[in-house]
Amino acid sequence: MNIKTLTRSLALAAGIALALGLTACGGGTTPPATTDSAASTSPMGAWDTNGDGILTVGFAQTGSESGWRVANTESYKSYFTAANGFKLLFGDANGDDQTQKDQVRGFITQGAEVIVIQPLTGDGWEPVLQEVQAANIPVVNSDRRLTGLDQYYKFFFGSDMRAEGDRAVEWLHNHFAAIGLADADVKIIHLQGQMGSDAQVGRSAGFDAGVQKYGWTVVATQSGEFAKDKGNQAMTSILATVGANDFNVVYSENDDMTYGAIDAMTAKGMDPKNYTIMSFDGNKTAVQMVIDGTISAITQCNPILGQQVGELIVRASKGETIPSPQFSQEVVIDPTNATDQLAVAFGS
Ligand code: AHR
Repeated sequence: MNIKTLTRSLALAAGIALALGLTACGGGTTPPATTDSAASTSPMGAWDTNGDGILTVGFAQTGSESGWRVANTESYKSYFTAANGFKLLFGDANGDDQTQKDQVRGFITQGAEVIVIQPLTGDGWEPVLQEVQAANIPVVNSDRRLTGLDQYYKFFFGSDMRAEGDRAVEWLHNHFAAIGLADADVKIIHLQGQMGSDAQVGRSAGFDAGVQKYGWTVVATQSGEFAKDKGNQAMTSILATVGANDFNVVYSENDDMTYGAIDAMTAKGMDPKNYTIMSFDGNKTAVQMVIDGTISAITQCNPILGQQVGELIVRASKGETIPSPQFSQEVVIDPTNATDQLAVAFGS
């Protein structure tokens, strides 16, 4: 066992002891020493605790459920390289909450000097974060927020999911006015993402607020877990009882589910172009479908986070306080800007 792993293991053991209340003097607990000091000779700053000039980063990824996720992983793998001063420990949770938490625990013993968490869902993170904190490893939160747990991470960089939902709803409202559809005639099928994820919670909360505000009717709601096949299954099961004239809008919380839903509609003989189809993310294929008139609008969600998170980590490691939360700049993609957006869209 090298000295760094030994230090981490001792810190981990101390953390577990603290969590179990096994303090020697019974007089309260001592907070772990901080690594925030800027007094370091490493070009990667004080978080480079062994001073080898390379920051070892544990990256807890949710899985590969969507085109967005694949582009996001690629943005991390292409930036967190030795040439940029990083060693990346990649954890693919494959859509499983417990696996993701176990992988974060694994990063502690693998010598991670910083851990980036993109949580699958927001549930049950506090015990894991306490262990990481006890091991004195800084945490960064990206993509989806660890809501209510701000004290455990240095900064958040990613999307404001609630703002995305609000943006989508206002676009829908203006669109209905433009096409002369009265609020009373709006009938929506709502396809939700991974239940309990910040992306689903924010986008669904924006949607629910819009339904409340404008008095729209929701004819069916199901989760497609942000995946094309599950979106297809959800829409197919909805269309077993909901007829072609029973709805005029689909609010789908990501592009992959939208593709699956469109396939389900087509299989039932419905022309998607006769409906208002609302999506999220902005993969190239989906943006092209806006240009073709199949998708009405996409609320953008930016997956290319690797470089920005990496640069913020180095600044934090050098002692800078990073303002938090920080959100990506995102827009709604519709026929007015889709051609421009296609030129910069991600994925395939
Ligand atoms: O957290 C971002 C969301 O997760 C994206 O909208 C979705 O496609 C992904 O799987």
